[in-house]
Amino acid sequence: MARQGWDTAAALLALALAGCGDDSGTGNAAGQGGGGGEGGGGTIAPAAYYEGPESAALGAAGNEARCSTCHSDDGAEGYSGNTFMDLAFHDSFKGGEADLLGAVNACVTGWMGGAALTSDDEAFIALRTFMEGISDPGATTSNPIAPEVLADEAAYGAAYDGGDAVAGEAKYATYCARCHGGGLVVGPMAAPDTATLGALSIGRIAQQVRTSGPPPSGMNDATDSTPGPMPFFEPSELPASDLADIVAFLTGG
Ligand code: HEC
Ligand code: HEC
Repeated sequence: MARQGWDTAAALLALALAGCGDDSGTGNAAGQGGGGGEGGGGTIAPAAYYEGPESAALGAAGNEARCSTCHSDDGAEGYSGNTFMDLAFHDSFKGGEADLLGAVNACVTGWMGGAALTSDDEAFIALRTFMEGISDPGATTSNPIAPEVLADEAAYGAAYDGGDAVAGEAKYATYCARCHGGGLVVGPMAAPDTATLGALSIGRIAQQVRTSGPPPSGMNDATDSTPGPMPFFEPSELPASDLADIVAFLTGG
């Protein structure tokens, strides 16, 4: 029940992948599902829901963001979300407020603009299998969640003035260009191009990066040009000096 839409999508994916013949040796997660009623498919590798078109398809129509757009799987830095390496066995997620399903759904429905998954959806089982495969069962301590919230745009402007524009170019390429370099559609909205960002004030850019935009940071409202589906970067993910350099690069010093 509540899975008709998904069954349709799964059938389309099965068609799209017919002929791949890559047996992923599906993990026998919790005695559930397995072959299930999905027409004996089971040929979609778990990683596809992390980084393939199957991942983008979990979001709104037209969404191009995948889990891999915002989360590395090997501890690499440069992403707004935490790495999936050693994440799956944490006691809780989202700073202690969610279980794994809740955390995945916060991203699927929030940033990506899709419909929530259930615990027995093929996509969720695949994501959990993928994440568990790259996680140490002994790593159980949940991550804190600590966005930097300053009073207003002017406060961000003061905090992030004076960066190094030359150093900022490479940092922009690492942290921002995977979305802003090619107008990637996240949920329902495309990321503005680099020149558009450069016309904004220092404070506006820094506030957007730290909090997804001025509050209220509602997502998935294509008519609202202020808050939107751009994820926030915590200082632990993007150090202050690096953000100052990026802002200097964008605004021309
Ligand atoms: C547009 C960016 C974006 C996309 C796409 C995205 N996430 Fe996230 N995700 C975040 C941010 C930002 C956070 C919260 C802070 C953090 O993890 O650093 C987060 C948090 C999480 C967490 C909790 C992490 C923790 O340490 O508690 C999980 C689990 C997660 N995401 C799974 C997924 C999965 C699975 C997908 C793909 C179906 C996905 N995310 C897609 C940005 C994204
Ligand atoms: C996961 C994709 C993604 C990444 C990574 C990303 N952005 Fe964005 N960004 C977006 C999207 C989509 C929008 C448009 C929707 C919105 O405003 O949230 C946006 C909007 C913005 C805006 C607001 C533009 C306006 O007209 O108000 C600024 C400023 C911005 N991004 C700067 C950055 C900077 C700087 C970085 C790197 C530190 C970055 N973004 C990283 C996707 C991304």
